[in-house]
Amino acid sequence: MRIMSKAETAAGAPARATKNAVELDRVAVRFRTRKRDVTALAEVSLTVPMGQFVAIVGPSGCGKSTLLKLVSGLLKPSSGTARLRSQTVTGPRHDIGYVFQRAALLEWRTAKRNILLQAEMRGMPAEQARRRAAELMEMTGLTGFEDAYPHELSGGMQQRVALCRALLHEPPVLLMDEPFGALDALTREQLNIELNRIWRETGTTVLLVTHSVAEAAYLANRVVVMTSRPGRVAEVIDVDLPAEREYSTTVATPEFARVTARIRELLGAGAAAD
Ligand SMILES: Nc1ncnc2c1ncn2[C@@H]1O[C@H](COP(=O)(O)OP(=O)(O)O)[C@@H](O)[C@H]1O
Ligand SMILES: [Mg+2]
Repeated sequence: MRIMSKAETAAGAPARATKNAVELDRVAVRFRTRKRDVTALAEVSLTVPMGQFVAIVGPSGCGKSTLLKLVSGLLKPSSGTARLRSQTVTGPRHDIGYVFQRAALLEWRTAKRNILLQAEMRGMPAEQARRRAAELMEMTGLTGFEDAYPHELSGGMQQRVALCRALLHEPPVLLMDEPFGALDALTREQLNIELNRIWRETGTTVLLVTHSVAEAAYLANRVVVMTSRPGRVAEVIDVDLPAEREYSTTVATPEFARVTARIRELLGAGAAAD
């Protein structure tokens, strides 16, 4: 199954629109261990145009993390093809940013130096990296905390640092694996609002794995709902909301209600964490 977005199918779409950020073509992943064989993903196809925000929801163990690993090249499909910016993924890719549930910051480095780690690993020019780090810290409200160590930062601020680190090299594609899962509800909401703004300001393509139905509907252009193992795409829901989403008015729209209700219906009662 190939999923076309409205933008892709629009008549007279510019040539640029044919360039997709991510293309999964019938990818399957089987894990063989001594005890058993697990089919983590079965025949998943998905096309994500440049600049789109896609949320991925599904029951625990359905292969969401596996899917992001395929896109980043950390994992090879057992069959099928993963393409990132029209190139087949054959090994770890550097044109992505990755954010995980745990910020995984180095305790002995300040916030700023944790962010700059990305530049050191990639050999980015130091001056350019410092400038970009300052911009990102301002964008995420971290100005004034440049010299704070991770233990001096709240969970939300640590996750902001992890986000800045993932964005430092201006990756065209940002992969987020339950990035806000460990945060309290209010901090999570605040970071959702910031992520919407950062996505608009950077123009990056985002693939966000989340257990939160509200987070998926608030942030995404499309929500991919997966089935339990082996993971397949149950349905792709288009979210017909403007890019700029003021929080309280957005969550009060009939479209938000429609999308969240449909996700819950597909997941089945009680399948989602919230
Ligand atoms: N390296 C691995 N070896 C064996 N099984 C794995 C490995 N990674 C993931 N799995 C299995 O594949 C399935 C999908 O895992 P995962 O992608 O982490 O799910 P999700 O992120 O949706 O919770 C699970 O059943 C998991 O136990
Ligand atoms: Mg996972």
